[in-house]
Amino acid sequence: MAIFLDTADLEEIKRFHRMGIIRGVTTNPTILLKEGVGGGMRGLQSRSKEIAGLIAPLPLSVEVTSNDPARALDQGRTFASWADNIVVKVTVHGPEGELENMQIIHDLETAHDVRVNVTAMMSAQQCFLAAMAGATYVSIFGGRVNNMGYNACSEIARLRKLLDQFNLKSQIIVGSTREVLNVIEWLESGAHIVTVLPNLLEGMLVHPYSKETVQMFLRDGAKAEALLKDTAD
Ligand code: E4P
Repeated sequence: MAIFLDTADLEEIKRFHRMGIIRGVTTNPTILLKEGVGGGMRGLQSRSKEIAGLIAPLPLSVEVTSNDPARALDQGRTFASWADNIVVKVTVHGPEGELENMQIIHDLETAHDVRVNVTAMMSAQQCFLAAMAGATYVSIFGGRVNNMGYNACSEIARLRKLLDQFNLKSQIIVGSTREVLNVIEWLESGAHIVTVLPNLLEGMLVHPYSKETVQMFLRDGAKAEALLKDTAD
């Protein structure tokens, strides 16, 4: 587990998947829209299948687009049928706090054999109830929590303690990454997974002092090679 990529950009997914450093991909309607994925359900199906094929057997999260309970349940079952590694994302509740989503999550997991990622959560208590409903993944939006003035690290730590204490199977995904430092601080706090924007992953890897060191090695390596050549001549 550990790092998922939070994008629908095929080139970024291929790039980081090839490196072996990601263990899954998450998307949401906003990410897909930004990526220019149009064409209604056909467009969504085609991009989802493409990503799922690229990363299989790693999981890809695809979010339902309706808040009508029957439609959301139906979409959940349909999305999951597109590929074995598709996990269905359902928001914790409706736009006005409607609670039907919990039953949809429970039904998808228990009656329809669909893996669910419960999303748009801001607190340990929301995630705990989603875990009780049977969610495979519970997604807390760390960046948004921090933006409200609370420290996401303490919510993550409390949640992890609860999941372990009650032996709940849900894995914590922390999303809404804003800064490079979020990734390690959230994993250290108890997240099973942090879903990261591609540019932040690059930011984790590239360090100015590493660059300088590599440049020194290459410079001296070239000098040593030239010396060896002179000795051989
Ligand atoms: C996570 O699964 C979400 O897709 C995402 O991280 C939300 O991030 P945002 O707060 O930047 O919208």
